[in-house]
Amino acid sequence: MKHFINLKDISSKDLRKILVDAKKRKNKRKKLNTLEVDKGAPLRGKLLIQMFEKSSLRTRLSFYLAIKQLGGGTLTLRSNELHLGEGGETLEDTAKILSTYGDGFMLRTDKDEKIEKFKKYLSIPIINGLSPSSHASQVLSDIFTVEEIKKKPISRLNIAWIGDSNNVLNSLIAASVKFNFKLNIGCPRNYKPKKFVLDWVKKNKKKVYIFNYAKKAVSNCDVIFSDKVISLNDKVNKRKKLSDFKKFKITENLISHAKKDCIFLHCLPRGSEVDEKVFFSNKSKVWQQALNRVHVQKSILLYCFGKLG
Ligand code: CP
Ligand code: NVA
Repeated sequence: MKHFINLKDISSKDLRKILVDAKKRKNKRKKLNTLEVDKGAPLRGKLLIQMFEKSSLRTRLSFYLAIKQLGGGTLTLRSNELHLGEGGETLEDTAKILSTYGDGFMLRTDKDEKIEKFKKYLSIPIINGLSPSSHASQVLSDIFTVEEIKKKPISRLNIAWIGDSNNVLNSLIAASVKFNFKLNIGCPRNYKPKKFVLDWVKKNKKKVYIFNYAKKAVSNCDVIFSDKVISLNDKVNKRKKLSDFKKFKITENLISHAKKDCIFLHCLPRGSEVDEKVFFSNKSKVWQQALNRVHVQKSILLYCFGKLG
């Protein structure tokens, strides 16, 4: 049994294994309908319990389809309907019950410590479905999308992130170390990644390149990533933050400073950080990106259940 919480805590070898498995599985499913089960039903009879403390569309649906296509099933809990949510039951007791009824637990939460606590008390794998510091399943799937479209290992590509230093960027930074690719970050001066994230990069003898000028960050890049300036439950002065990011909008003009065949990716939902013209252009691969989460998360589940080749 393995947990899937932060990319930085998983070996490069295991992350690559997950991507290789996802590619094989995706290719083999071309003629299958959405709910048809993969040959061999490797997770037959397994129950994945999902719990969301914040809104979700993609993560919810993609994990639902992922476990179904592996032969298992899922149950989605709303945190405000549990005793835990109302403070009437301890997290330890809740975790023990989840482990008794279910085989895996996927949690989207506002508190990183909650994932760590659940990890301590669960005897089933926990998967991080987004926390304040990480969106690991999203980013691993995004690496898959980049390699699928560019048809080469991401280590041979230049990646740019334009936007806030949030959970998605933290995971992208971890991925840049694990998969060894060049990552430029374009953000306003006061919004660079947190010290603990940059210290971890340094500790691993790697580098990320931070620019306070968007055009410099995208120069010569193959992929531009972005995300909402205001994340879910972001407790900031929204008007000020949006204004601070005014010069970091993804426009056709900005993209013209990247490589000619540069693609645009965004985990969604989007805000005003990307121009509609770019978002609906043929450089934008956001729908393929969203769907790939099903494929990669299937292999993440298999990794957690110790069933990856
Ligand atoms: N990208 C992503 O995690 O989307 P949801 O918030 O809709 O799950
Ligand atoms: N950074 C965003 C990602 C949403 C999928 C958030 O945390 O709200």
